[in-house]
Amino acid sequence: MGKVLVTAPQLPIALDMLEKHHQVIGGNSFMDRAQLASQIGDVDAILSTLSDPLDGEMLSLASSDLKIISQCAAGYNNIDMEVARKRNIAVTTTPGILHETTADLAFTLLLMVTRRAGTAERLVRARKPWRYDHTVMLGTDLRGKTLGIVGLGQIGEAMARRAAAFGMNIIYSARTPKDTAQIDRINPVTQPTRRVDTPELLETADMVSLHCPLTPQTRHLINADSLAAMKDSAFLINTARGACVDEKALVFALENGIIAGAGLDVYEDEPQVTPALLEMENVVLLPHIGSATVQTRAEMSVLSARNILAVLEGKAPLTPVK
Ligand code: DGY
Repeated sequence: MGKVLVTAPQLPIALDMLEKHHQVIGGNSFMDRAQLASQIGDVDAILSTLSDPLDGEMLSLASSDLKIISQCAAGYNNIDMEVARKRNIAVTTTPGILHETTADLAFTLLLMVTRRAGTAERLVRARKPWRYDHTVMLGTDLRGKTLGIVGLGQIGEAMARRAAAFGMNIIYSARTPKDTAQIDRINPVTQPTRRVDTPELLETADMVSLHCPLTPQTRHLINADSLAAMKDSAFLINTARGACVDEKALVFALENGIIAGAGLDVYEDEPQVTPALLEMENVVLLPHIGSATVQTRAEMSVLSARNILAVLEGKAPLTPVK
């Protein structure tokens, strides 16, 4: 029987799977840095979440018995992979599960911000007088517009399929060319999907959606210069990681009409949101719920637990980070 540390609230389905075979510590509340540091020296496995500070300093406190960090997320930028590798700790994530759900949310943000749905809903809830008016709450259509997708992985591709169905043309930037046949089959009216470099994407797109991982190369990918390169009618959608965007520069761009609006599910200093954003009508703000559906979160939990069970049985992890 091993010891499994669960660092954050977790679904009963995962806890039950683990408790059948191992001693489970936590799983009902979030652990702060000090709590994590006080436990990590004495566990065989960690079921982690994307806000856990599993940096080099933290991993240096880990027990030599720690065999696996099973991250219940697609992203793993909170884990120092170099140190994990050196210490022979397997790191796993939950690929192939949450891309459709997260793309649904990215598309929700795109529709909300272009159709001013947040503003309109706030108006009704505020019990302000309104009536059908031909001249107000006019938004922006998606059909015929160009969506620029940064990172055409599983989530980016799922976003592209949704956009194609809405009649959008797709351009994307990615390190390697992708097979875009599936996207191009969706709508006979749209232009073939094209790979472009990031500067061309920023200049050309009517809407830009980020679907890249957070790495040293993508930190502040969207900064004052890239925002200035975008059309002043453009919208930015971010369901990837907050730090892909320089939030200060974004606030300046939104306040000064450098871009038209933004839909955000993630923030640079999560869960803090730059206060100026809260005051703006041209942004839609969600609390990092990209993968938050009953079905998807359950599947993520099960896969995370299965990864731990496999490794603690001496088997290979099912979905390791390579
Ligand atoms: C992830 O899994 O990395 C997502 O951000 C969760 O929505």
